Amino acid sequence: MSVNVIFGSDGGATKAVAARIAKHTQGRAIDIKAASVADFENCSLLILGAPTYGAGDLQADWEANFDKLTNAKLAGKKVALFGTGDQAGYPDSFVDAMGILYDQVVEQGATVVGFTDTTGYDYTASKAERDGRFVGLALDQDGQSSKTEKRITEWISRLA
Ligand SMILES: Cc1cc2nc3c(=O)[nH]c(=O)nc-3n(C[C@H](O)[C@H](O)[C@H](O)COP(=O)(O)O)c2cc1C
Repeated sequence: MSVNVIFGSDGGATKAVAARIAKHTQGRAIDIKAASVADFENCSLLILGAPTYGAGDLQADWEANFDKLTNAKLAGKKVALFGTGDQAGYPDSFVDAMGILYDQVVEQGATVVGFTDTTGYDYTASKAERDGRFVGLALDQDGQSSKTEKRITEWISRLA
């Protein structure tokens, strides 16, 4: 399995998480700023990660480079998503950016794997929730960083 982990990060939290996920999957972590369209396509599992900013928006580098994603051929491709957020600080838009990425890759025909339970989180609303589950791995490095390693390893074990 070849894995590309494409991420955006303002403050470094998502970058660090992407590096950990890449290490566990023996994949490559690639900043969206430096990514090419081919980086989205030339892997057997594509993992995309973003923090949420503003009032439920994608991180700025993702917004600025969104065409790299939309130009990629993702029909039938296995894609997994992770989002970083702060459920105590932003309970009404927790990890919303992951939901934005989800809608886009689904529109492009990707097969999204790695949905997770919302148990263990405390928030009010999230665009990343569908039918009571998160569309990927939700991580809170602001308030629940001690839970991150277990969440990552359990999630990755279900992606293969
Ligand atoms: C101005 C600002 C707005 C934010 N808005 C949200 C939000 O709407 N939802 C959320 O879950 N987290 C929000 N966060 C928290 C960040 O997504 C979180 O701290 C994340 O780990 C940052 O990742 P980074 O260090 O890779 O940039 C916000 C943080 C800041 C500073």
